[in-house]
Amino acid sequence: MRLWDQEFTTGHWDFIDNTMGDCVYPYLERYSRNGRLLDLGCGPGNTANELAASAYQSYVGIDISEAALQKGRKRSETNGRGDKNRFELGDFISYAPSQPFDVILFRESMYHVPLKQVKAMLLRYSNYLTDGGVFIVRMVTSRSNGTDNRRLKSMVDIIVQEFEVVENRSDGNGGPTVVVFRPRRRA
Ligand SMILES: C[S@@+](CC[C@H](N)C(=O)[O-])C[C@H]1O[C@@H](n2cnc3c(N)ncnc32)[C@H](O)[C@@H]1O
Repeated sequence: MRLWDQEFTTGHWDFIDNTMGDCVYPYLERYSRNGRLLDLGCGPGNTANELAASAYQSYVGIDISEAALQKGRKRSETNGRGDKNRFELGDFISYAPSQPFDVILFRESMYHVPLKQVKAMLLRYSNYLTDGGVFIVRMVTSRSNGTDNRRLKSMVDIIVQEFEVVENRSDGNGGPTVVVFRPRRRA
C-alpha cells in the first residue's frame, strides 16, 4: 500500500492520468446501461473522469492507495462529478461491495491478483452483479518483446473456462485485451 502511495505521490504514474480514447471506453459505454459501475484498482480516477458522464449513473472506485484515491476525488470535484463518483480505500482481494453493479471493471489491475486467487475472487464478485451485469477486464497479456506473458494468458484462460464470455478483444499485436464476461447460467 505504501509502495503504491509513493508511486502516486512522486508523480511516477502522472503519465497515466490521461488515457482519453482508451479502447475500454466503448465497452464501458455499451455495458454500463446508464447504471452502476464498480472499478477495482481504480488508480487516480481515469475511468471516473474520462468515461462519458452520460454513460453511467454512479461510480465506485476501490484502490489500495489513498494517494491515488485523493487524485480521483479531486479530479471528480473539478469535473462536476463529485456526487456521481465515490472513491474508497480497499483491497480488491477481500473488498465486499454494499450494492450490486451493472459493470465490475478490472482495468490494468488484474496483474496484481495472484493466479491461484483469480477464479475464487471473480466467483465471489459474481454475487455483486445485477441481472444482466458483466465483468470487464482490460490488460496487456504480452511482454514488450511481443511474447505472451503466460501468467496473464492463464488468467484469460480461467475466465474463458469458468465464465460466459460475451466479447473478447485481442488485437494480437501486443495491444490490450478486453474481455467482457458474466457468470455462467446454472442449468
Ligand atoms: C496500473 S494502475 C491502473 C489504474 C487504473 N485502473 C487505470 O487503468 O488507469 C493499478 C492500480 O491497482 C491498484 N492496486 C494494486 N493492488 C491492489 C489491491 N490489492 N487492491 C486494490 N487496488 C490495488 C494500484 O494502487 C493501482 O492504482
